[in-house]
Amino acid sequence: MKPFVLLLLCLGNLNRLPAQHIELLNNNKKISIRGMSVVTDKIIWVSGNNGAVGKSVDAGKTWQWMTVKNFTQRDFRDIEAFDENTAIIMAVAEPANILKTTDGGKSWKTVFTDSTKGMFLDAMEFKNDKGVVIGDPINNQVFMAYTNDSGNTWVRSPLMKDLKAEEGEAFFASSGTNIVTYGPGIPVFVSGGKQSAIFESSRRKLVLPIIQGENSTGANSIAMSPDNQIHGIIVGGDFLKDTARKNNCVLFTMIGQLRFSAPQTPPYGYRSCVEYINRKKLICCGTSGVDISDDGGLNWKNISKEGFHVCRKAKNGEAVFLAGANGKIGILTD
Ligand SMILES: *[C@@H]1O[C@H](CO)[C@@H](O)[C@H](O)[C@H]1NC(C)=O
Ligand SMILES: *[C@@H]1O[C@H](CO)[C@@H](O)[C@H](O)[C@H]1NC(C)=O
Ligand SMILES: *[C@@H]1O[C@H](CO)[C@@H](O)[C@H](O)[C@H]1NC(C)=O
Ligand SMILES: *[C@@H]1O[C@H](CO)[C@@H](O)[C@H](O)[C@H]1NC(C)=O
Repeated sequence: MKPFVLLLLCLGNLNRLPAQHIELLNNNKKISIRGMSVVTDKIIWVSGNNGAVGKSVDAGKTWQWMTVKNFTQRDFRDIEAFDENTAIIMAVAEPANILKTTDGGKSWKTVFTDSTKGMFLDAMEFKNDKGVVIGDPINNQVFMAYTNDSGNTWVRSPLMKDLKAEEGEAFFASSGTNIVTYGPGIPVFVSGGKQSAIFESSRRKLVLPIIQGENSTGANSIAMSPDNQIHGIIVGGDFLKDTARKNNCVLFTMIGQLRFSAPQTPPYGYRSCVEYINRKKLICCGTSGVDISDDGGLNWKNISKEGFHVCRKAKNGEAVFLAGANGKIGILTD
């Protein structure tokens, strides 16, 4: 009997081997990468601290690194790239700046500046030439600005006046993905800290069933299903306890009322970014590893203990890239 039992055990283990893994492409730079924009399967831009921006035009095989002049001490927590030549980066604070290049990163133009004390930009989201940026609340008022022209000009939104943030409630700038837009460009974004909530533009705000109450807890990232934009998912957790799995993920639907549900098998720790690969398949990542779901986010399996801050799928393509601390960049591989 014994050999037979052993064989069964082996087969069982084989079945549980993850079908996909992360291939590391780059891992040796003193840069914490949190911004990533994948334009096509070949063109990838990343941004990080120390004024760093990186670009690959050959699917991540080789990288061109640049330090943005006059911004060498700044932290670019989010980036949106439009093609090989055009990209926008966000320097979070003191002052808050948005910069744009149209020559592949050779030169950058400052397109937005706000020197208000306490200003801290968290994330940008774009659909073609229309974009939105959110910033931490000042006097409990969320900062939001819009652009219509691919980031050349920005206009502050007066709409957020009616929806107050709580004391100690803010937005994590951990991956530039805590804001999405749906339908005709309505921004939906998630907060963390003392309170973690979902905001639907200035229309409504609901507290999330996700861990909250401390500066290190709450929602970090939101994604909406690519087909119908009715289903979505939110991930987060506690970045100081990055393997804790309790209340770190929320599924939601937006048919009329916002309805929340919990996954059956949650992600394997604090997660700073979530992304739909297709309608059913999702990826999420955080400092303690990478997980995949094949059933719309209901059940997650861990495929790597390698830590990453951000994971993005190509806007026009299929490739999925990840990036994190120490200049680490990876690609999801079969
Ligand atoms: C960079 O700094 C130099 C010296 O302070 C200044 O002359 C120049 O205008 C700055 N450039 C930008 C793009 O801010
Ligand atoms: C964007 O375009 C719309 C319609 O033309 C206009 O009403 C709005 O003020 C513009 N917003 C910005 C930020 O330019
Ligand atoms: C948490 O946030 C509060 C209020 O924003 C701040 O006073 C406190 O220093 C923060 N604590 C930590 C550990 O960052
Ligand atoms: C998945 O998580 C379990 C439990 O934490 C761990 O034992 C296992 O090594 C992880 N697998 C991978 C591929 O990281």
